[in-house]
Amino acid sequence: MTDQGTTMRNHLPGYAEELIRGRRAVRSFRPDPVPEQTMRAVFSLAGAAPSNSNTQPWTIEVVSGPARDRLSRALLAAHAQQHLSVDFPYRDDLYTDLHRLRRKHFGETIYGALGIARDDSQAREAHNAESLRFYGAPHVALIFAPPATDERMAADIGMYGQTLLLTLTAYGIASCPQGLLGFYGDTIRHQLGITDAKLLFGVSFGYPDPAAPVNRTRIPRANLCETTRFHR
Ligand SMILES: Cc1cc2nc3c(=O)[nH]c(=O)nc-3n(C[C@H](O)[C@H](O)[C@H](O)COP(=O)(O)O)c2cc1C
Repeated sequence: MTDQGTTMRNHLPGYAEELIRGRRAVRSFRPDPVPEQTMRAVFSLAGAAPSNSNTQPWTIEVVSGPARDRLSRALLAAHAQQHLSVDFPYRDDLYTDLHRLRRKHFGETIYGALGIARDDSQAREAHNAESLRFYGAPHVALIFAPPATDERMAADIGMYGQTLLLTLTAYGIASCPQGLLGFYGDTIRHQLGITDAKLLFGVSFGYPDPAAPVNRTRIPRANLCETTRFHR
């Protein structure tokens, strides 16, 4: 290994700390677009994500400009008409005990940062609508899976998702993964002319609005001992 290679390797944990802990979900964006060439570099690098037997079962639709505006309008209309269509059904009892508690803490933190009270359903509704405007982001990437997707393929797509988020972070681009968009599969497919793929989630991305208090929120993580056991 060259001297330069050794130095790089010694620095990698520091870079990893900065990259992984530096990423966070951003929920208020500036409107300026990411240059097309940068987007191509980002999505090309994100495609290096690992997958079962290298199947790479993801397809990505990156939506910008007038197409992004049309999509947002269609989502808001579907939301107003309560036209939901989920490819991966959601159940309220999905989260139990500890996970439910973490979810509750997360909700309290975010709504607290937004200044929205627990019982203010109108303000919560307005926030939901804002998420269908991609929190003001100029781009959204919709992450699709094959029609016969099972949990195994969903794991692959999760790998792709985090690789994409970290790549965006490395390029100085903020993002918000949005499972909520997966509740509007039919609307999104119709807008993008897609017939045969299932929607898992979307990722809104662009440059963050540094003045927005919601972007200053830090969501804590469980301690190592709560999630990880080492066996010998
Ligand atoms: C698959 C997935 C779906 C998510 N869906 C949403 C969403 O619909 N709306 C939202 O505001 N944040 C969403 N998030 C962001 C999470 O709330 C966020 O990642 C988590 O609270 C940890 O915060 P951090 O990313 O800022 O560290 C989602 C994250 C993931 C991984």
